[in-house]
Amino acid sequence: MKKENKIEDKIENKIENKAGRAAAQGELLCVRDLHKRYAVENSRTMKREYTEVIQEISLTVRANESVCIMGRSGCGKTTLLKILGGLLAPTAGSVYYKGENLFRYRQKRMEEYRRTQVGFVFQDYKLLDHLTVRDNMILPLMLEHKDVGAAVRKVEEMADRLQIAGRLEYYPGELSGGEKQRAAIGRALMNDPELILADEPTGNLDEASGRIVMELLTGLQKEMHKTLILVTHDKEIADYCDRTIMIRDGRIS
Ligand SMILES: Nc1ncnc2c1ncn2[C@@H]1O[C@H](COP(=O)(O)OP(=O)(O)OP(=O)(O)O)[C@@H](O)[C@H]1O
Ligand SMILES: [Mg+2]
Repeated sequence: MKKENKIEDKIENKIENKAGRAAAQGELLCVRDLHKRYAVENSRTMKREYTEVIQEISLTVRANESVCIMGRSGCGKTTLLKILGGLLAPTAGSVYYKGENLFRYRQKRMEEYRRTQVGFVFQDYKLLDHLTVRDNMILPLMLEHKDVGAAVRKVEEMADRLQIAGRLEYYPGELSGGEKQRAAIGRALMNDPELILADEPTGNLDEASGRIVMELLTGLQKEMHKTLILVTHDKEIADYCDRTIMIRDGRIS
């Protein structure tokens, strides 16, 4: 092993020990010096160009808290959320989940992290149109080979809490936006993930439906002791969270 690799590993181990202690103190996510650069091919010059979207973001998220991320369009909010959810690798820096370096996970472990530890909620719901609300919600449990009877009961209980019990046999195309988002929240919570990542969950909703969705989302998050990281442009939506982080030019401002 090269000398510089040894030094890098030593530093990495030191950070990991620190992150391990942090996890023991209730820190769920610990982001250190994160960078993300996208490469795009310029269609005119045919040359590869780079954009630094995230530049040196460090932050800590404690278990059970709700954190809002705000910033102007294009500042890197979705990119950051994708990295935290293990959907996108950073160019540099680390994300520790319960003290473990996420991007040192092997592929299988990363898939398991995404499936069992994270629940995603998207602005455009991403429900499967050819499945009923019941089947959309039960799908994550079936992928985990959970007991069918217990899964059915869980879906009904969750639908009840999200006030869509009367919509379980409907298809997404037959629902209002707010109902679709409540079904998507139910699906995100079905596997009992620790972390909920919501990217502008009220972005397509009117004010009243947005408020209902946020009350249910943050209510369930507190009651079920989940950690929520939510992106929004709306100050009133941000007020539902415990604290807000502002991103400007790829950095926390
Ligand atoms: N796959 C990609 N390849 C190249 N550039 C990308 C890619 N994804 C995003 N970008 C660029 O990175 C920047 C940040 O994108 P991102 O989607 O994270 O912004 P955002 O803060 O979520 O914006 P919005 O509020 O509009 O959703 C944008 O300028 C975008 O063009
Ligand atoms: Mg976005």
